Amino acid sequence: MQIIDGKKTASDIREELKKEISDLFQRGGKVPGLVAILVGENPASQIYVKSKGKACEEIGMLHKTEILPNDISEEKLLQVIDHYNNDDKYHGILVQLPLPKHINEDKIIEAIKPEKDVDGFHPINVGRLVIGKDALRSCTPGGIQELLKRYKIETKGKHVVIVGRSNIVGKPIANIMVQKEEFANSIVTVCHSAAKDLSYYTKQADILIAAIGKPEFITGEMVNDNVVIIDVGINRVEDKTNKKGYRVVGDVKFDEVSKKCSYITPVPGGVGPMTIAMLLKNTYKAFKNLVDKNELYRYKKN
Ligand code: GUN
Repeated sequence: MQIIDGKKTASDIREELKKEISDLFQRGGKVPGLVAILVGENPASQIYVKSKGKACEEIGMLHKTEILPNDISEEKLLQVIDHYNNDDKYHGILVQLPLPKHINEDKIIEAIKPEKDVDGFHPINVGRLVIGKDALRSCTPGGIQELLKRYKIETKGKHVVIVGRSNIVGKPIANIMVQKEEFANSIVTVCHSAAKDLSYYTKQADILIAAIGKPEFITGEMVNDNVVIIDVGINRVEDKTNKKGYRVVGDVKFDEVSKKCSYITPVPGGVGPMTIAMLLKNTYKAFKNLVDKNELYRYKKN
């Protein structure tokens, strides 16, 4: 059994981007920029946004956090998005979710210019992914494929079983893995709460992606030998032996499943760190797409 080290892989990606951004800056004087829009004071959202800012800083990416009051009107928030849609310094716009109840999330996501939608949540990007066109793809699913790629895990013709059908993970990873491209081209099954006998499906998996949001839900007897396990869950469970009073576990019962599988992503340190790394990668991609090639390479001789 081999551990898939997401922390190390995410760090490698950040280093690669740092170098590319520094080289580009030296040649053309431009840097990619990301603006994160945070509405209200949700503590988890504050932590996420802070980590995103820190990651940008480390790799030399321009970043800004726009903090807005919890009672901001939908109309005012739309104006802020419109401002950044037209601000050439920022190539990526991220609106941290969830938003307060009085704001329609779909309307906000659809207001972001698709070319700057580094979360890959805009219906244009989702639709382009489905029909196999180049698109900004959402970060956690993108991170899963990147892990499969960097660990050279065969996916062509393999049966990928996904448990969970969220718009952020389940559906987009299904649409990535079914594409006729490298590190995809798989046979894909999506399972969800309506499955009568979940084990019937999970036992057939060559690659099992657990994105259910239930602690240690996938047990040893639900999987076959040599399966590749991608655990997307991040769940807090009470643990009095821990100073914090809790510990973080995935959707997979690690002790049992790790004895049977060929590869596994641990929690923490597996898929989690990849999300921000892919957000940076998406911002860099948006930057390259938005900035005129002649400007990017202004000082390049040939
Ligand atoms: N809230 C939880 N996860 C995410 C994410 O990936 N992007 C955004 N914008 N908000 C989130």
